[in-house]
Amino acid sequence: MSSEESVTIHPAKSLSGSVRLPGDKSISHRYAMLGAIAEGTTKLENFSTGADCASTLGCLHSLGVQWERNGTSIVIHGRGAKLQAPKAELDCGNSGSTIRMLSGILAGQGFSSELVGDESLSRRPMARIIAPLEMMGAKIESRDGGRPPLRLTGAKLKAIDYKLPVASAQVKTSLLFAGLFADGTTRIEEPIQTRDHGELALQAFGAQIDRRMREVSIIGGQKLRGIEAVIPGDISSAAFFLCAAGLFPDSQLTIPGVLLNPTRARLLDFLIGLGLRITMTDLQEHHGELVGTLQVQGGSLKGARIVGGDSAALIDEIPVLAAIAPYTSEGIEIRDARELRVKESDRIASVAKNLRLMGAEVEAFDDGLRIPGGQQLHGASLDSFGDHRIAMAFAVAALRAEGETEIKGADAAVISYPGFFEILEGLLQR
Ligand code: S3P
Repeated sequence: MSSEESVTIHPAKSLSGSVRLPGDKSISHRYAMLGAIAEGTTKLENFSTGADCASTLGCLHSLGVQWERNGTSIVIHGRGAKLQAPKAELDCGNSGSTIRMLSGILAGQGFSSELVGDESLSRRPMARIIAPLEMMGAKIESRDGGRPPLRLTGAKLKAIDYKLPVASAQVKTSLLFAGLFADGTTRIEEPIQTRDHGELALQAFGAQIDRRMREVSIIGGQKLRGIEAVIPGDISSAAFFLCAAGLFPDSQLTIPGVLLNPTRARLLDFLIGLGLRITMTDLQEHHGELVGTLQVQGGSLKGARIVGGDSAALIDEIPVLAAIAPYTSEGIEIRDARELRVKESDRIASVAKNLRLMGAEVEAFDDGLRIPGGQQLHGASLDSFGDHRIAMAFAVAALRAEGETEIKGADAAVISYPGFFEILEGLLQR
């Protein structure tokens, strides 16, 4: 993602109103990919407006999948298990989810394809999918021992029993998707439980899977059928508004239709522990995914540590939690989060750099950050580092800084949330 446009954020006094969020990015990718290899039609409402999910749709189009999009509504005409060989490279843009999860499907196809990405994606580690997919029978060439572009040749796959060396839902989902095309039962064990949207999506499309604690298995050769679904609002996008609300005791915010899947909602427990008042109403389940309305009031923010399984559960929200840490009374320490180094940017370095530019004291570790509380920040000229979550996290930090903050490359937010800055602005009281 190249960094071009800047935004200027002015301090605010509170945040109030109601905001409906774009469809969850993790679920949008999975439903689109499974819709493509299902039989019949899949109709999705509130599909993510982010550029990442558009990358998935673009790749599916190149693989012969017909779909029509009207705003956030999408109709996908499933091809069944067989996709069409692409005539050109598959452009995954900035999207790690696209390249990793689609590789699982392509591993079981009878053709070769080349998956490419932007500069950021081309730096990200793919050995984590290459090793198990090759064990299943696919052949994958990469650059520099595991970076994109990937040249992937599909094969008749065989099932494997595999222990994931890193906790990654993208890898787990990729292998479950490959497992659909394998002879026998593919078993996957994860070191700690990660988000389970892959499992729930497979079940929604009619596949039978077996789940036990940190183990999941799938029998190959199962047929999928298309679904109709409304995709819940993205809780990782909600995080920016929740944290912004948390900065001001007078905030009052309502977020309807948001994803509350327990493997993603650790954020809410964490924020309640930090001092926010959050209530959940209108709880419903859609295709196994818990959805509800959040009502949030600001409070005074204490402090916290994020370690162990919490670091994996909060991995996408850590940038914004770190960005509000100086405004807490006791600070926030994050450890066991080495994965942050291989996200869309090195998020430990990006967060530390921007916080320091705003005058904060920060200690950076190989696997995390320690940010003392009780610090007053000042406005500064910051960089998004081409990373959507960094751009949005620092718009939140800027709301309580003294003076205005410029965020260069703020357009990176389109990766998950086009229109974010305008929507934030509309909620602010000054
Ligand atoms: C995702 C899993 C996480 C997360 C990413 C989306 C998913 O990545 O950071 O934004 O949809 O499965 P990893 O699987 O690399 O941990």
